Amino acid sequence: MNQARSKNNLALFFVATAIAVLAIYIVFRFEPTLQQLLSARMGELGPKPATIVHILQLVFLGIFVYLLVRAFNVFIFGLFFRFRRGFEAPTLVRNIFSIIAFTALFFIIFSWRFPAVNLGALFTTSAIFGVILGLALQDTLGNFFAGISLQADRPFQVGDVITVGVQRHTGVVEEITWRAIKIRTFQNHVILISNSTAAKEPIEVCPRENLNARLVFFNTLYTDSPAKTIHVVREAVREADNVSQKISPIVRIRNLGDNGVEYEVKYWLNDYAKYNDTDALVRQRIWYAFRRAKLNFAYPTRTLLVERRPKTGMGEGEEGAIVERLSAVDIFAPLSSEETAMLAQAATSHVYAPGEIVIRGGDPGSSMFVVHNGRVSVQVTENGQPRTVATLSEGAFFGEMALFTGEPRTASVVAIEETEVLEIGHAAMKRVFDNNPDLVESLSYIIAERRQALAATEKLPGSESDESEGILSAIKRFFGMK
Ligand code: CMP
Repeated sequence: MNQARSKNNLALFFVATAIAVLAIYIVFRFEPTLQQLLSARMGELGPKPATIVHILQLVFLGIFVYLLVRAFNVFIFGLFFRFRRGFEAPTLVRNIFSIIAFTALFFIIFSWRFPAVNLGALFTTSAIFGVILGLALQDTLGNFFAGISLQADRPFQVGDVITVGVQRHTGVVEEITWRAIKIRTFQNHVILISNSTAAKEPIEVCPRENLNARLVFFNTLYTDSPAKTIHVVREAVREADNVSQKISPIVRIRNLGDNGVEYEVKYWLNDYAKYNDTDALVRQRIWYAFRRAKLNFAYPTRTLLVERRPKTGMGEGEEGAIVERLSAVDIFAPLSSEETAMLAQAATSHVYAPGEIVIRGGDPGSSMFVVHNGRVSVQVTENGQPRTVATLSEGAFFGEMALFTGEPRTASVVAIEETEVLEIGHAAMKRVFDNNPDLVESLSYIIAERRQALAATEKLPGSESDESEGILSAIKRFFGMK
C-alpha cells in the first residue's frame, strides 16, 4: 500500500517537474513574443508587459525550485541519512532545510528577475509588517524555536519512552515535528505535546538503546528467611522473558513493614516499551516461585489467630491421586502397592508456570520427576539454540538418568503450560531398593529401553544390552549396592 503510494508520488513528481520545465522554456524562449502579445492586448493601461512576463517567470521558476528542494530533501534525508545513520532524519530538520533552501533560492531568482527591487529593504523597513507577523506567529515561532533547541540538544529520539510534565504523560516517541512531539501511550492513544510546553516541563527519558531498569515490590511473612527469599526471587525473575541477561536482577529488603518484610526486585529490560507486560510476568513468576519454595506473602491483618492443626501432610484424596499416578508410570510397574505408596508419601509436588525451567541440562541432580498435570518439553542445545526433542504429558517421567546414575542432566525440561510435577529424591528410591534389591535389575532394563529411544532421536550409537548392563552397574555403584 505504502509502496503504491510512493510510486504514485514519484509519477506525480515527474509530471509536475516536466510541466514546470516546459512552462519555464516557453516563458524564456518566447519572452519577446509574449511581451508583444500583452502590449497589443493591454495597450498603455495597467502594468508593463515586461513585469508580467517576469512575474510569470518567477512563478514557474519558484515551482521548479520547490520541486528541486523536495527531491533533494528526499535524497539527502530519506536515502543518504538512512544509509549512513540507519534511520530517517527527523521531520523538523527536513522542514528547516526545505524552508531555508527554498527561501535562499527564491531570493536569488527574485533579484535576478527584478534587480531594481530591494527585497531586504522591503522586509526590514516594513515595521508594521514585522509587528503583525510577530504577533500572529508568536506561538508558532515559540514552538518552532523550542523544536530547534530540542533537535540541537537531542535529549530523546523516535522510539524512546518518555514521561512528560506534571501530568506524567508516558509513551513511545513517534515523531518530533516543528510544532509538537507526538507520543503513543500504552493504551494506544496519541498525545501531542507542543514543543514550547515540552521545553518548560521536566521530561523523563528512557532511551531505546539503554538498559532501563524497573522496580517491582512484594513482601513476605517475618518467618520467611530473607536469604532464601532473595535467592528464590532472583532466580525466578532472571528467567522471565524480556528481562536482560546482561545484568542480574537485584532483590533487596526495602522496609521491615507492619505486616511483613517488604522487598523490591530491580531488573533491567531488553525492550523498555513492554514494561507493563514484563512487570506482570515478574509478579507471576514470583508467585509460582513462592509456592514451590513454600514462602508466604504477607497481608495486612490485625487479628491474632491461634490455630492448632493436626500434623498431616497432603489430604487423603490428594495422596490417593498421587499413588494412582505413580502406579501408572511404567518404570514403577514392578513395584508392589506398598512400595508405590511409600514412594507417594516421599514425593513432593511442585507447580511451574508456562515457560519455566524445571531442570537445566548439565546441572547436577539427584531426583526424578513424574508429570502429574500439564505438559513439559525436553530440550537440548544445538548451535546455541534450544531444540525440543520430546514433549511429555501426564504420567510421563523425566530426570531418571541423574537419579539412577548420578550423572549430570542430559537435557533441559521446560513447562509448556502450568504444570504440576512430583519429585522423587534419592533417599526415597534407596529405601525402595533396600526393601527389594531385585528391583534394580528390572528398573535398569526399563531405563535402558528408554535411553535407547533417546539415543535414536539424538542419533547416538549404543546397543540395548550394553546399555542396560552399564546402567545396572552405575545404579548399583551410585546407590552403594553390591
Ligand atoms: P536427566 O539426564 O536426568 O535430565 C534430563 C532428562 O530429560 C533426562 O534425564 C530424561 O529423563 C529426559 N530426556 C532426555 N532426552 C530425552 C528424549 N530424547 N526424550 C524424552 N526424554 C528425554
